[in-house]
Amino acid sequence: MCGIVGYVGERRALPLLIEGLKRLEYRGYDSAGVAMMEDHTLQVTKSAGRVAVLEQMLDFDGSKATTGIAHTRWATHGAPNDANAHPHTDASGRIALVHNGIIENYTAFKKYLEQKGVVFATETDTEVLVQLIGCRYKGNLEKAVREALAEIHGTFGIAVVCSEEPGIIVAARRGSPLLIGVGQGEYLVASDASAILAHTSQVAYLSDNEMAVISADGLRTTTLDNIPVTKDIQEVEWTLDQIELAGHDHFMEKEIFEQPEAMRNCMRGRVDLGEGKVHLGGIADVAREITRAKRIILTACGTAWHAGLVGEYLFEDLGRIPTEVEYASEFRYRNPVIEDGTVVIAISQSGETADTLAALSEARERGALALGVVNVVGSSIARETDAGIYLHVGPEIGVASTKAFCGQVAVLAMMASYMGRRRHLSQSTTQEFLEALARIPEQMEQALENSDQAKTIAEACAQRENWLYLGRGYQYPVALEGALKLKEISYIHAEGLPAAEMKHGPIALINDGMPVVFIATQGSQYEKIISNIEQVRARGGRVIAVATKGDHGITKLATDVLYVPHTLEPLQPLLTVIPLQLIAYHAAVTRGCNVDKPRNLAKSVTVE
Ligand code: M6R
Repeated sequence: MCGIVGYVGERRALPLLIEGLKRLEYRGYDSAGVAMMEDHTLQVTKSAGRVAVLEQMLDFDGSKATTGIAHTRWATHGAPNDANAHPHTDASGRIALVHNGIIENYTAFKKYLEQKGVVFATETDTEVLVQLIGCRYKGNLEKAVREALAEIHGTFGIAVVCSEEPGIIVAARRGSPLLIGVGQGEYLVASDASAILAHTSQVAYLSDNEMAVISADGLRTTTLDNIPVTKDIQEVEWTLDQIELAGHDHFMEKEIFEQPEAMRNCMRGRVDLGEGKVHLGGIADVAREITRAKRIILTACGTAWHAGLVGEYLFEDLGRIPTEVEYASEFRYRNPVIEDGTVVIAISQSGETADTLAALSEARERGALALGVVNVVGSSIARETDAGIYLHVGPEIGVASTKAFCGQVAVLAMMASYMGRRRHLSQSTTQEFLEALARIPEQMEQALENSDQAKTIAEACAQRENWLYLGRGYQYPVALEGALKLKEISYIHAEGLPAAEMKHGPIALINDGMPVVFIATQGSQYEKIISNIEQVRARGGRVIAVATKGDHGITKLATDVLYVPHTLEPLQPLLTVIPLQLIAYHAAVTRGCNVDKPRNLAKSVTVE
């Protein structure tokens, strides 16, 4: 949700930290700050607003500090103002801390510390933690951090410095990601590899309840109980150019256009057309349990939930396994029934979404086989699962999820055919399905040719404040996804519905010129959706149809038609979502919205 970066070494830390913060801004952008340590002096600078605002306040030439920590915030406790921005300091001004996560018992500690005479300068839960560390400090920062963390409840990824111990950063994690970057005579700490990738691709991921002490001389890792831990140093699989704009105006645009390549990477080594089967190494060890599954529960949030809904149709169609998709936030508190043979699959781009992580833990505790469909390698959800499949679609920086949706659907399609083949699908049906899947990247390239037309439509309709998105069967989740994309980045109210539901109420909304997007591709429900289009036309709505290439008849019914190539019905969401992503993108640009950093949102939601 927020972003942390820290540096200790021989180089000037400030430019590195600001560059890291800019790369982390997609995680939160209400306020930003740095704490620089030069000899025994701690200098904290922070401000509400974007990193660019902070940057203007800093003296880059004057700062010779080679140790520092920095933060970009998405506010949870306390308004996004200067005071509440991180880093926070203790009352003595010796200790500075940056924090991602939430301290749950902060009110009790605030009272306790106030009784001891501590005066609080902010409304944040984080200040309570740094004040507690300050109270426990007796000349050993590591010990003080350990003691304070033993007392608090909640989640944290933290980096702490102390002016009495220059050249040292103490970092710790519970429930909020943190990694240590290993360079030549320098170490970095970050909540996300993108912040440090320009300097090193060698990282050690901290696990929950672990702590690291870094200095120019080395890295020492322990548990929070001070038991030494040896960490593997891993190579980050993402490259620097993957996290840069590469000539695009926005990450969302870049990521929409990356989808064909992302699909190829996602399927590489998995779809085997020669043998007519799917290889899924990540779940090979539990293949037997999956094959014998009696029920599947897919759990996720937002876009990942929409992908899960496509998954429900896929697992029932291809796998013939009873499947449900559940909002993770509901599942975790609902006393769910987990019987023998239940497989729970958590779907998440970031692998850090708090509700999804909690739902997965709940499912595991109740005895389900817990699988993950995750993009970020080494993320919390990936670590919590019994087995899983990575998307391999590359980093997704734009807050609006695009290529991750397609990666999630593609992985679920591969899993469904993997299960289906083991249960009842014939070799020839499986082969036909996989051949169609393998054609998707090239067909996506054709769907992307709609961009100019999507722009024209978006420009024509961008000032309409209410839109409807309608689809049936496999296109119903796509309707939901199209509506979510539009609302989250352009702030237009949009609703996605199963097309047949329209007549049970929402039809009352339709007035002259209201944009109604139909996903009306050729398939089992084509005739039905055409009737729904007629109903909207009769009431003066502006019909925007996503249709199958070659369907000329639909031009008589729709004001605008965006064509996608023909594919099997279960795979159509991978193509039909593209025009909807493009419409949302162009509508947001037309309305002058900040596409990659929409208001009130951040990339991963690590709070409830
Ligand atoms: O990282 P996750 O896939 O778990 O994130 C889930 C949702 O927060 C996410 O898909 C959100 O809905 C996006 N902003 C949608 O574009």
